[in-house]
Amino acid sequence: MVHADASNFAEGITKDDAYEQVLLQAEGLFYGQRNWVCNLSNAASLLWHAYKSLAAPSSEVNWAGFYVLDPTASEQLILGPFQGKVACQTIKFGKGVCGTAAATKTTQLVEDVEKFPGHIACDSESQSEIVVPILSGDKVVAIIDVDCAVLNGFDETDKKHLERLADLLSKSCDW
Ligand code: SME
Repeated sequence: MVHADASNFAEGITKDDAYEQVLLQAEGLFYGQRNWVCNLSNAASLLWHAYKSLAAPSSEVNWAGFYVLDPTASEQLILGPFQGKVACQTIKFGKGVCGTAAATKTTQLVEDVEKFPGHIACDSESQSEIVVPILSGDKVVAIIDVDCAVLNGFDETDKKHLERLADLLSKSCDW
């Protein structure tokens, strides 16, 4: 049964262990549930609470969520489930960090958003960002986007585990 405790992370937990819990809880929550709105919503909650349980810079995450393929326009992303402040509604493939991840099908790990050409500043507080594409077959169906209010908020550990989450979401939802 789904329980809110899934979003509780032990104090002092390592980043690797926090992501392990995210992946484990996500797998449990996705069991018997293939709706992407539902699964991305719970994934955003798990990520948000994981970051808030960690030390800086992860604790400084100020936005964690998803953009999905916009069914009403070609090569465009539309805002999906997230935690944080309101955000840009649509992003064209190739634009900003999200659109670049979608167009190139590769993770974008941005240490300083000011140095990323074309970065879309939905929130001027965001200083670093990581965006991971979610592929179904060879088609981008969504992206994971996490913003941080300090520089260098993300590293290879975040990349590794968020790419695992992207794989899990790819196979756990009907896109
Ligand atoms: N900064 C992103 C836009 C989305 S928000 O960060 C939530 C970008 O450049 O694509």
